[in-house]
Amino acid sequence: MDGRELIKRQVEYYRARAPEYDEWFFRQGRYDRGPAHRAQWLSEAGEIEAVLRSAVRDGVVLELACGTGLWTRHLAQLNRRVLAVDAAPEAVARNRARVDAANVDYVIADIFSWRPSAKFDSVFFSFWLSHVPEEMFEAFWTRVGETLLPNGRIFFIDSLLEESSSARDHAPLDRSGISRRRLNDGSEFDIVKIFYQPEELEARLRGLGWRGWVRTTERFFLYGSFERSGAPGSRA
Ligand SMILES: C[S@@+](CC[C@H](N)C(=O)[O-])C[C@H]1O[C@@H](n2cnc3c(N)ncnc32)[C@H](O)[C@@H]1O
Repeated sequence: MDGRELIKRQVEYYRARAPEYDEWFFRQGRYDRGPAHRAQWLSEAGEIEAVLRSAVRDGVVLELACGTGLWTRHLAQLNRRVLAVDAAPEAVARNRARVDAANVDYVIADIFSWRPSAKFDSVFFSFWLSHVPEEMFEAFWTRVGETLLPNGRIFFIDSLLEESSSARDHAPLDRSGISRRRLNDGSEFDIVKIFYQPEELEARLRGLGWRGWVRTTERFFLYGSFERSGAPGSRA
């Protein structure tokens, strides 16, 4: 399957998955691995939430691949405006219902072809970078850089390769760059899923002219914050 076909298939997958998407985050159904696991997962997510809340606030934020709003809710509470983009109308409908905030606008669009007409203080994306095909990585970061105001900042969250993150009936995770996903009805989709090594990702972004860091929680997540190198007053 070529890159374009994978991107299309990925959107089909997330459209179909929208009604059951949150089971992954809250460790329910096929993602349920017991209370200790859930507590650890939610505590690590809470750790990132605390950093996000201090790093991305009081500004105008672009959220790419906003999904059902699990992170949009935090951005909306702390920022003047949020523009939330996703290709799946079914996910955006859930996001709207969850967040229910007048300072959030939504766009249903394919991130790879959509261009914003404004620039932003921050661009945020969670569990999205791992779905950007390798051959689009550089173009994606160039595009993101172009949407930032001079002192703008990127904040992202993604998955570490931790076997118990996945549904119990998924095949073991690997670094092939493609994952076979299953929905509750048994249907299957092959999607892009790249597990980045934090140090390599940080070095790669520095090589592309970004300044910042990638950190990890104990088991499940990585997260990063970057500014353009040479941005006035760059603090990253
Ligand atoms: C793993 S989910 C992450 C959702 C949300 N950021 C979160 O952390 O819960 C990936 C999201 O990307 C969206 N998506 C997939 N391909 C896309 C594309 N080409 N353009 C825009 N959104 C896309 C899906 O609809 C889905 O909501």
